[in-house]
Amino acid sequence: LDLSGPMLTRARAQAAEEGLDRITFEQGDAQVHPLPASAFDVAISRFGVMFFDDPVAAFNNIGRALRLGGRLAFVCMADPTRSEWVSVFGTARAYLPLPAEEPATPDGPGMFSLADPSVVHRILDTAGFDKVHTEPVEALSDFGRDAHDAADHLLASGPGQHLVKLLDSASSVDSADRPSGTDSVRAAFTVALAAHEQPAGVHLRTSAWLVTATRR
Ligand SMILES: C[S@@+](CC[C@H](N)C(=O)[O-])C[C@H]1O[C@@H](n2cnc3c(N)ncnc32)[C@H](O)[C@@H]1O
Repeated sequence: LDLSGPMLTRARAQAAEEGLDRITFEQGDAQVHPLPASAFDVAISRFGVMFFDDPVAAFNNIGRALRLGGRLAFVCMADPTRSEWVSVFGTARAYLPLPAEEPATPDGPGMFSLADPSVVHRILDTAGFDKVHTEPVEALSDFGRDAHDAADHLLASGPGQHLVKLLDSASSVDSADRPSGTDSVRAAFTVALAAHEQPAGVHLRTSAWLVTATRR
């Protein structure tokens, strides 16, 4: 289940490549999608549950689809200061003439909305789960062969494209001499990533919580 059509197209193609033919993919909003009641043994998500406007409603909806005692397991981002790719974005931003953004609402949806385990416990408890357990997990991910390659990778990501949009919307004067938002963001990423370049490539640490719980 995912909101995004392109994500599902990719998932269907990947499943077909791997010969997995007993999977159903559905497009919908996990907060309100009409999932069958008490139908599943386990609900799993990789980094998909931090973006709910109403996380209690969403986890309630997911919980209703689980049989009693059914399991929930997901990974969500931990404290942003513990993930190196986040600090690369911070360093790159410092090189860019970006407009001031609205400060994020602390309780609002977003990549780090479940970074505090006490928030995870409160939401899941209210949504009808118990045996809530949060375990820190860290992994090094391969971002590219070198800083240039990794910069292209970050540029293609949602947060990378967001920076390009911010930069393009900030410059009201079009000038042939001015580098495009894309070129500026790529250059800033390349400088920020140079500090992480190793002979084996650019590997950055991501820090997450592995959260497990059981439907009451
Ligand atoms: C960081 S991506 C992770 C995608 C995928 N799970 C993976 O590991 O590659 C977050 C995903 O959450 C999806 N998403 C966000 N809010 C959602 C919602 N309310 N219902 C369903 N999917 C949602 C987005 O469309 C996006 O595909």
